[in-house]
Amino acid sequence: MTLRNLGAVVLGLLVVGALVAGLARARRPLPQPIAFNHQLHVEEMGAECADCHQQALTGARATIPNIAVCADCHEEAQGESVEEAKLVEYIQAGEPIPWLKVYTVPDHVYFSHRRHAAIAAIECENCHGEVGQRIEPVVRPAVKMTMDHCMDCHEASGASNDCIWCHY
Ligand code: HEC
Ligand code: HEC
Ligand code: HEC
Ligand code: HEC
Ligand code: HEC
Repeated sequence: MTLRNLGAVVLGLLVVGALVAGLARARRPLPQPIAFNHQLHVEEMGAECADCHQQALTGARATIPNIAVCADCHEEAQGESVEEAKLVEYIQAGEPIPWLKVYTVPDHVYFSHRRHAAIAAIECENCHGEVGQRIEPVVRPAVKMTMDHCMDCHEASGASNDCIWCHY
């Protein structure tokens, strides 16, 4: 192999390396401020989704629980967990936990949890995957909330696909 060829190979590897690093960056999950464990609370303690996501059956937004909900049990540390220690700090400082919201629809789209989870009795898992079995926090959507995804289910379940149903 000539020196020139070697140069080309090295350059090629660098380009591939940069592409791989770029992809890894693009796929890096959103970091959540506390490593919340659904499985522990849902499967082991038997908490219901709506105990924490308090508007999931009654409002448009399910809501992500914050210190007021967690304080019922975590005003003081119950164990040795570092993650729980972070939580107790937020609670004692009265400072909200800056959770990142993973599932979203744009502002021009109307979506109601009450209509889907309560009135149409669609399981949370249908749109969010097996969240209750997660040990790690939710960092990317299990199901992408695209227009096609919404419309496919509406088509299959006989719900309307008129534009104005979903768009203001
Ligand atoms: C009904 C009571 C209850 C509520 C409400 C509750 N937890 Fe817990 N949580 C527990 C119990 C019990 C444990 C186990 C404690 C131990 O032995 O470490 C625990 C453990 C934890 C831990 C440490 C375990 C680990 O995986 O590192 C974290 C972090 C935690 N909870 C976060 C939260 C957050 C955040 C909220 C609010 C959104 C919350 N919890 C609401 C009862 C509760
Ligand atoms: C038909 C699909 C569907 C079902 C069923 C569903 N969700 Fe959602 N969920 C969504 C969509 C779409 C969003 C984003 C909505 C937005 O940004 O307004 C979302 C957002 C959320 C969020 C983020 C916070 C928020 O309020 O936007 C939580 C938490 C959540 N859902 C929990 C639940 C729980 C718990 C259930 C079951 C009781 C449930 N969802 C059932 C589609 C669904
Ligand atoms: C003890 C409280 C608690 C219970 C019970 C609970 N969750 Fe959560 N949930 C949280 C917290 C805290 C977060 C934010 C951290 C994370 O992503 O894990 C969250 C995040 C989520 C999200 C992602 C929201 C977003 O858009 O960022 C979904 C979806 C969700 N939960 C669904 C469920 C479902 C379905 C159940 C019942 C099977 C459930 N949760 C039970 C506390 C709870
Ligand atoms: C898994 C099936 C399913 C998915 C996914 C789904 N829907 Fe629906 N949706 C329904 C059903 C069934 C109804 C009729 C509910 C009833 O009985 O009133 C409905 C009703 C509606 C309504 C009319 C009721 C109201 O609140 O005014 C809107 C708007 C709507 N859906 C928006 C959406 C959007 C936006 C998405 C995607 C982000 C979506 N839906 C995803 C099944 C689904
Ligand atoms: C069942 C709900 C639903 C219905 C019915 C619906 N849309 Fe959408 N639409 C959505 C959602 C959800 C998004 C956001 C998709 C995303 O962010 O990936 C969207 C996005 C859009 C966008 C923004 C461009 C884009 O790709 O994000 C346009 C334009 C649009 N819809 C037009 C329409 C028209 C025209 C109709 C009627 C033929 C219609 N929609 C019917 C749910 C719906």
